[in-house]
Amino acid sequence: MGERPYVIDELISAKTIAARIEALADEIETFFADSDKLIVVGLLRGSFVFIADLVRELTLPVEVDFIETSSYGEATVSSREVRILKDLRGEIAGRDVLVVEDIVDTGHTLKHVLHMLGGRKPARLKVCALLDKPSRREVEVKADWVGFEIPDEFVVGYGIDYAQHNRNLPHIGKVRFT
Ligand code: IMP
Repeated sequence: MGERPYVIDELISAKTIAARIEALADEIETFFADSDKLIVVGLLRGSFVFIADLVRELTLPVEVDFIETSSYGEATVSSREVRILKDLRGEIAGRDVLVVEDIVDTGHTLKHVLHMLGGRKPARLKVCALLDKPSRREVEVKADWVGFEIPDEFVVGYGIDYAQHNRNLPHIGKVRFT
């Protein structure tokens, strides 16, 4: 799969992403305005660029933690079984938690993570996803804040990979096989 030649067409520019993140951060900050500390939980690896930009737009006191889940592997199809490869370092009971996801696709990953974190009894548990592909949803789950809704395209860049490539692109592009 990774061997097939492809080109990347720009879908969302770096400038558009930056402007959208400012607006998202404003909304998140308003929602958590009374919070003493927000625990921002990034889902590795795809959210690492997004979380870095998002937290720098937040003026609330934040802590950053990460979870790593199993991913698609080398193929562009979701393996439905979600496994936790790396859990949080910190406790979240009674805390305000914001899960930061790169893409909500079928929804299996987010559903699994929310179920797991919800069981630890955080005070508030919310989700911010950079991208949402609603047409691909297989289970009911919704992000509280979404950067951009996109069609059913395979995208890369801004932290998001195709077979571990293209995470370092500053914009989001769609993969077109040639
Ligand atoms: P879900 O469990 O199907 O919602 O998949 C979520 C994860 O699949 C995301 O966090 C991404 O890591 C990965 N994923 C979904 N769509 C894409 C894509 O278009 N490009 C790269 N990775 C994707």
